Amino acid sequence: MDKNFYITTPIYYPSAKPHMGHAYSSIIADFFARFKKIDGFDVFFLTGTDEHGLKIQRAAEAKGIPTLEFCDEISKTFKDLSKILNLTNTDFIRTTEDRHKKSVQSLWNQLKENEDIYLSKYSGWYSISDEAFYSEEEIEEFEGNKRSISSKSAVEWVDEESFFFKLSKWEKPLLEYYKKNPNFISPESRKNEVINFVKSGLKDLSVSRKSFSWGIKVPNNKEHVIYVWLDALTNYISALNYPNKDNDLYKKFWPASIHLIGKDILRFHAIYWPAFLMAAKIPLPKRIYGHGWILSGEEKMSKSKGNILDPIEIIDKYGLDPLRYYLIKEVSFGNDGNISKEKLEDCINSDLANNFGNLCQRVTAFATKNCGGKIPDKINFDKEDLRLLNKFKSNLNLIRDKIDNQDINYYISFIVNTLFETNKYFNDQEPWKKKDQMTRLNTIVYTTLEIVRKISFMLYPIIPESSLKALKIFNISENEINFSSLENHEYLKKGISINSIDILFKKIEKIND
Ligand code: MSP
Repeated sequence: MDKNFYITTPIYYPSAKPHMGHAYSSIIADFFARFKKIDGFDVFFLTGTDEHGLKIQRAAEAKGIPTLEFCDEISKTFKDLSKILNLTNTDFIRTTEDRHKKSVQSLWNQLKENEDIYLSKYSGWYSISDEAFYSEEEIEEFEGNKRSISSKSAVEWVDEESFFFKLSKWEKPLLEYYKKNPNFISPESRKNEVINFVKSGLKDLSVSRKSFSWGIKVPNNKEHVIYVWLDALTNYISALNYPNKDNDLYKKFWPASIHLIGKDILRFHAIYWPAFLMAAKIPLPKRIYGHGWILSGEEKMSKSKGNILDPIEIIDKYGLDPLRYYLIKEVSFGNDGNISKEKLEDCINSDLANNFGNLCQRVTAFATKNCGGKIPDKINFDKEDLRLLNKFKSNLNLIRDKIDNQDINYYISFIVNTLFETNKYFNDQEPWKKKDQMTRLNTIVYTTLEIVRKISFMLYPIIPESSLKALKIFNISENEINFSSLENHEYLKKGISINSIDILFKKIEKIND
């Protein structure tokens, strides 16, 4: 079985500082990367910044600084955010790097050589904010100006010489590919959008611009720069040292396991990118997942709308892990979601502090007092203990399967329900009344500690720092976390000392409590 896993986030435009929408894509990708890592996969996790195009050039001009200097500055804020979000990315790519330029130009040459690129003239609408071409049917009139119906961003008329990619030629092969690979585009509703769009007919795509210079030059041409989306999408193979297909990274990780993106950029990833790759005879990524948006009120959060929520402000106030937990649990994956401080505080108080934190504290305090501060030795599982412990063993493959289908909701519900059941089990078993039946008392404590261990392993992809803090109870370190070990009921070594730990999550005092 292929034990390599390659996951990517979109590369972000450094036109302004990162916001919660960007943090969301990155945190979800980190969740999958960490899960695969603890399940024994070799993981390559890529993120970065998309630095060319008119949008960036204009943003730099507005600040009055040279474009590259502007990019350096803002790209750094994205790189810093990866650290703040505790991402485990393997690489951070910038499209202004030489390795990427080389890769894009090489892909261009390949497309040219295969006769998929020709010179003509583009006359039509273009949105700088989306860096996208729109047809007449895709735009509307708004307050005397034209704008895209889907994104609501302004469009302007472009009339210039341009190279074209023969996208129309790939209409049928794309439809066949979607049919043969029903999981290529997820979730299902998004797949249908894409298929309908392709079925309605694909026109050739303008892939170069002449009226500005901030981009990668078309090879052997002084006037044209390559269309920013052809440039940007190539980052996914640049990071694996394309065009050198013989190197270990490319051989091991291409095709990508999953490109995780927001639903607004599905067309680029599910139509243009596979068409470019087919034309260049490069295998296609295995899956494109278009997640929903983080909304501000009813609208997508974005710089142009001025309704930005800063992830750093939330982290400063509540901590990183609560934010990660909230985004993974409360934003139902695939759908849009809101950030509500009230719901975030509820998550901290009930799920993190009460359900998880309290269980850890309670069982370690009890074991310290009643089991000599050690993992109990003499145990004898009965039906109740095994029922709880078996939940993991019998669901292990199902959980893996759910993760491979990006069913994060299943994963998190499993954790929340199991924590709830374990708290109930500890209460119902009343170990404090069993001081004259030490084997029973020991078994209840052992079972509960095993579940704390198992749940901490499962929480690691979601709240890594807190999971590691909890695992200090058993002196388990990060590189020992291993998903397969959840089927072992007696992983914890008997007779070994346990450590007490500081409170994992402080409860938030609510005014009306
Ligand atoms: N540069 C392109 C992507 C190129 S990938 C080859 C781009 N950049 S972006 O900075 O505008 O957006 C990057 C990602 O952030 C997209 O997936 C987008 O959907 C996501 N988000 C931006 N705002 C968002 C929300 N408010 N909510 C969730 N994600 C959103 O597009």
